[in-house]
Amino acid sequence: MALIEWTPEFSLGVDELDEEHRDLIEAVNQLYQQVRSGRYQTTVIDALEALHASAAAHFAHEEEMMQSHHYADYDAHHADHRRLLTEVTDMMYQCQDGVDDDEAMANWLRDWFCGHFKTHDAPLHRVIVA
Ligand SMILES: [Fe+2]
Ligand SMILES: [Fe+2]
Repeated sequence: MALIEWTPEFSLGVDELDEEHRDLIEAVNQLYQQVRSGRYQTTVIDALEALHASAAAHFAHEEEMMQSHHYADYDAHHADHRRLLTEVTDMMYQCQDGVDDDEAMANWLRDWFCGHFKTHDAPLHRVIVA
Protein backbone atom coordinates (compact mmCIF):
# COMPACT_ATOMS: atom_id res chain seq x y z
CA MET A 1 0.00 0.00 0.00
CA ALA A 2 1.22 3.47 -0.88
CA LEU A 3 2.46 5.66 1.95
CA ILE A 4 0.45 8.61 0.62
CA GLU A 5 -2.68 7.90 -1.38
CA TRP A 6 -3.70 10.59 -3.81
CA THR A 7 -7.13 11.92 -2.87
CA PRO A 8 -9.30 14.69 -4.35
CA GLU A 9 -8.22 17.03 -1.55
CA PHE A 10 -4.87 17.24 -3.38
CA SER A 11 -6.56 18.46 -6.54
CA LEU A 12 -6.62 22.21 -6.47
CA GLY A 13 -7.56 23.14 -9.98
CA VAL A 14 -4.26 24.07 -11.65
CA ASP A 15 -3.55 21.19 -14.00
CA GLU A 16 0.24 21.51 -14.24
CA LEU A 17 0.70 21.91 -10.48
CA ASP A 18 -1.75 19.11 -9.73
CA GLU A 19 0.26 16.88 -12.04
CA GLU A 20 3.50 17.83 -10.29
CA HIS A 21 1.94 17.10 -6.90
CA ARG A 22 0.96 13.65 -8.17
CA ASP A 23 4.57 13.15 -9.31
CA LEU A 24 5.86 14.20 -5.89
CA ILE A 25 3.51 11.78 -4.14
CA GLU A 26 4.76 9.09 -6.49
CA ALA A 27 8.40 9.96 -5.69
CA VAL A 28 7.62 9.83 -1.95
CA ASN A 29 5.90 6.46 -2.34
CA GLN A 30 8.75 5.00 -4.39
CA LEU A 31 11.28 6.17 -1.85
CA TYR A 32 9.32 4.58 0.97
CA GLN A 33 8.97 1.39 -1.05
CA GLN A 34 12.78 1.22 -1.26
CA VAL A 35 13.04 1.73 2.48
CA ARG A 36 10.44 -0.97 3.20
CA SER A 37 12.07 -3.49 0.91
CA GLY A 38 15.31 -3.08 2.81
CA ARG A 39 17.24 -1.70 -0.14
CA TYR A 40 19.10 0.79 1.95
CA GLN A 41 21.97 3.06 1.12
CA THR A 42 22.50 3.40 -2.63
CA THR A 43 18.94 2.82 -3.77
CA VAL A 44 17.43 4.92 -1.01
CA ILE A 45 19.92 7.70 -1.71
CA ASP A 46 19.01 7.51 -5.42
CA ALA A 47 15.32 7.77 -4.52
CA LEU A 48 16.05 10.76 -2.27
CA GLU A 49 17.94 12.39 -5.15
CA ALA A 50 14.96 11.79 -7.44
CA LEU A 51 12.64 13.33 -4.85
CA HIS A 52 14.96 16.33 -4.50
CA ALA A 53 15.05 16.87 -8.28
CA SER A 54 11.25 16.62 -8.67
CA ALA A 55 10.69 18.88 -5.69
CA ALA A 56 13.20 21.52 -6.84
CA ALA A 57 11.57 21.71 -10.28
CA HIS A 58 8.08 21.87 -8.80
CA PHE A 59 9.01 24.51 -6.22
CA ALA A 60 10.59 26.70 -8.92
CA HIS A 61 7.39 26.43 -10.96
CA GLU A 62 5.19 27.26 -7.96
CA GLU A 63 7.43 30.22 -7.03
CA GLU A 64 7.21 31.55 -10.58
CA MET A 65 3.44 31.35 -10.36
CA MET A 66 3.40 33.08 -6.96
CA GLN A 67 5.50 35.92 -8.30
CA SER A 68 3.31 36.40 -11.34
CA HIS A 69 0.28 36.65 -9.02
CA HIS A 70 2.13 39.00 -6.62
CA TYR A 71 1.34 36.49 -3.90
CA ALA A 72 1.42 38.12 -0.44
CA ASP A 73 2.83 35.10 1.41
CA TYR A 74 5.60 34.46 -1.10
CA ASP A 75 8.47 34.84 1.39
CA ALA A 76 7.12 32.32 3.91
CA HIS A 77 6.19 29.84 1.18
CA HIS A 78 9.58 30.20 -0.50
CA ALA A 79 11.37 29.74 2.84
CA ASP A 80 9.42 26.55 3.48
CA HIS A 81 10.44 25.19 0.05
CA ARG A 82 14.09 25.81 0.99
CA ARG A 83 13.53 24.00 4.30
CA LEU A 84 12.01 20.99 2.50
CA LEU A 85 14.95 20.73 0.10
CA THR A 86 17.42 21.03 2.98
CA GLU A 87 15.61 18.26 4.82
CA VAL A 88 15.93 15.95 1.81
CA THR A 89 19.65 16.72 1.56
CA ASP A 90 20.08 16.12 5.30
CA MET A 91 18.21 12.83 4.96
CA MET A 92 20.66 11.73 2.23
CA TYR A 93 23.51 12.13 4.73
CA GLN A 94 21.55 10.37 7.47
CA CYS A 95 20.86 7.43 5.15
CA GLN A 96 24.49 6.91 4.17
CA ASP A 97 24.65 4.07 6.68
CA GLY A 98 21.16 2.77 6.02
CA VAL A 99 17.72 3.52 7.46
CA ASP A 100 17.34 2.25 10.99
CA ASP A 101 13.78 3.39 11.64
CA ASP A 102 11.20 2.82 8.89
CA GLU A 103 8.41 4.36 10.94
CA ALA A 104 10.34 7.58 11.55
CA MET A 105 11.03 7.76 7.80
CA ALA A 106 7.32 7.23 7.06
CA ASN A 107 6.31 9.98 9.47
CA TRP A 108 8.88 12.37 8.08
CA LEU A 109 7.81 11.72 4.47
CA ARG A 110 4.11 12.14 5.24
CA ASP A 111 4.75 15.40 7.00
CA TRP A 112 7.24 16.49 4.34
CA PHE A 113 4.55 16.44 1.65
CA CYS A 114 1.23 16.79 3.50
CA GLY A 115 2.41 19.34 6.07
CA HIS A 116 3.67 21.74 3.44
CA PHE A 117 0.70 21.09 1.19
CA LYS A 118 -1.88 21.92 3.85
CA THR A 119 -0.04 24.90 5.31
CA HIS A 120 1.29 26.55 2.16
CA ASP A 121 0.04 25.04 -1.10
CA ALA A 122 -3.68 24.90 -0.35
CA PRO A 123 -3.91 28.63 0.52
CA LEU A 124 -1.80 29.49 -2.54
CA HIS A 125 -4.05 27.61 -4.87
CA ARG A 126 -7.14 29.23 -3.41
CA VAL A 127 -5.62 32.55 -4.51
CA ILE A 128 -4.35 31.62 -7.97
CA VAL A 129 -7.48 29.72 -8.99
CA ALA A 130 -9.87 32.42 -7.70
FE1 LIG B 1 4.72 24.87 -2.14
FE1 LIG C 1 3.40 22.32 -4.18
